Amino acid sequence: MITAAKPVPIQKLVEGLRQLPESIFDQTEPLRKFLEDTPVEADSLVPYLTWDRHHYTRNLIDRTPLYELMAICWEIGQVSSVHNHRDQNCWMAVPVGRLLVENFHLVHQDLQAGRCRLEPLNTVEMNPAHACAVDLADPVHRVVNPREFSQRAVSLHVYSRPFDTCVVYSPEQGTCGKIQLHFNTMFGKTAGN
Ligand code: SIN
Repeated sequence: MITAAKPVPIQKLVEGLRQLPESIFDQTEPLRKFLEDTPVEADSLVPYLTWDRHHYTRNLIDRTPLYELMAICWEIGQVSSVHNHRDQNCWMAVPVGRLLVENFHLVHQDLQAGRCRLEPLNTVEMNPAHACAVDLADPVHRVVNPREFSQRAVSLHVYSRPFDTCVVYSPEQGTCGKIQLHFNTMFGKTAGN
């Protein structure tokens, strides 16, 4: 019989991440599996959760030179921009609710000219039983909390190495540009970035 792992407080996940060897952060599957096997108790995330009806919120939980861990809060219907992750590894787990990851294939990009061409690739659901890793071969994606899911969602993101810029794309207009990323809260306190 397969039994689901017992959820742990977020601090246990942080302790686990800090004990992992550096080499794990250079592969995708072991850390994806680690996140899936270490589900996080929703209640333990409360100090890190902030909600904004206009935009999803980014809340930093832990950061080392190797990785950053954040909680992202998604109101019903909220969507990220289509974006990349600067060639860094990224893993996502969803302790609360369900989310979709829509992946795109980048056919062409000219960042200086601000032009790109993207093709839709596939859509994957993330939920408490299914964590996800960004595919370095096709890293461009957006995260969606569809209205029909009818519930708020919280995702945990591990980025390695940490980064504070990314490229955002408009598949419809064929445009792209670099943006700065900001946190709403850092370590449970309002961020001044
Ligand atoms: C973000 O980090 O702001 C976006 C989350 C994601 O889709 O990876």
